[in-house]
Amino acid sequence: MKSGDKSKRLKEFEEKVNLIFRETDCVEVLKKALRGDPRAIIKEIIDSGLRGRGGAGFPTGIKWKGAAEAAGGNKCVICNADEGEPGTFKDRRILDEQPDKVIAGMGICARAIGATEGYIYLRGEYTFLFSKLSAKCEAWNAIFKEKGLNFRTSVRSGSGAYVCGEETALFESMEGNRGEPRNKPPFPVTIGYSNLPTVINNVETLAYTTMIISDGPESFKSIGTKDSMGGKVFSVSGDASVKGVFELPLGMTLQEFVDLFGDSDTKAVQVGGSSGTCVPRKNFADTIIGFEGVPTGGSMMLFNSSRSMYHVLKNYLEFFEEESCGQCTPCRVGCQQLLKGIEAIRSGERPLSYLERLRDLARVMSIASKCGLGQSLANPFNSITQHFREEICY
Ligand SMILES: Cc1cc2nc3c(=O)[nH]c(=O)nc-3n(C[C@H](O)[C@H](O)[C@H](O)COP(=O)(O)O)c2cc1C
Ligand code: SF4
Repeated sequence: MKSGDKSKRLKEFEEKVNLIFRETDCVEVLKKALRGDPRAIIKEIIDSGLRGRGGAGFPTGIKWKGAAEAAGGNKCVICNADEGEPGTFKDRRILDEQPDKVIAGMGICARAIGATEGYIYLRGEYTFLFSKLSAKCEAWNAIFKEKGLNFRTSVRSGSGAYVCGEETALFESMEGNRGEPRNKPPFPVTIGYSNLPTVINNVETLAYTTMIISDGPESFKSIGTKDSMGGKVFSVSGDASVKGVFELPLGMTLQEFVDLFGDSDTKAVQVGGSSGTCVPRKNFADTIIGFEGVPTGGSMMLFNSSRSMYHVLKNYLEFFEEESCGQCTPCRVGCQQLLKGIEAIRSGERPLSYLERLRDLARVMSIASKCGLGQSLANPFNSITQHFREEICY
């Protein structure tokens, strides 16, 4: 496709959604939410089909319902703005350009579940956003008070560990402890931050809740597919003709995506960052971007023929080895062994067939690791070594 046709087509796709970056009177949306019954808010979010945009895709309305039904007077809403997944940079743009939409979403959630305190857990490196967001929180605290909502929110800074984006490690970090994931259950909706029933949602998820209350669930449902409703904000990087942040409908095929951002030399797309799945060109047409195909927290990395998939995989494994919190053995030892294993194949110390044993190890990690970090390593490991096996040994 010629570049002019590509940008026209991209605009058409963006116009199908246009929710996150559209100007919206968020105070009016909050007022609308406050007028109705809290249960009606939860019903609208459930009816919209919204699923979490932080990666795991848990239905947002069901999460809110769980927290609303949990026992306890004091409850909490946390906006997960840790954004540590390699290749993801959409939350920083949403927070920079549309902080009102996110904080209004926190207020709407507070009303729905009966929370009194809220926090934005901001990635440590996003220092440029800290004071801006703190000022926004103060302004919104005054709005909440004026509108009769007993809810206050503030910003807390992360300290740069990827695992602190995992919800329970995030609570530990906020409580001043080492950022190590907890056992689940109990789930955060019953025992979360400071033992309070807690809803934790991604930045983009909360911004979408504001737009669902604004436009109604039907409008949100009309975008995407039956399993993946609504839009998604993507971070596009790598060997892409246009890079950046784009809001597109869920349910596109990877081929449609590559037609917009890649070219005939795009050999693979890593969907969902270092913990996601690598899809080779031969599967682009049959792969749907969404919960029924390849889910993504937003990171889309394109690779062309100049890239060695061995080096791509090695880079991910080094990242995981560095970021594993070390609490459980399958992940702590497994990350090291997978890295050593592909290096041994590359140097000729081990035959290529050794990959089968490493793939078994990755599968064991996906079952036996305590949190999503160790559980998801099999996604990149097994997809890259399956589709680019020959690139591992030369
Ligand atoms: C290692 C690891 C890192 C994570 N990092 C983030 C993150 O930076 N942002 C985020 O929203 N969710 C992250 N998650 C997912 C959270 O645990 C949680 O599922 C999410 O914040 C829930 O919000 P959602 O339902 O709106 O997606 C991470 C999970 C794991 C296992
Ligand atoms: S899977 Fe990894 S990051 Fe998660 S608790 Fe175990 S060692 Fe820590």
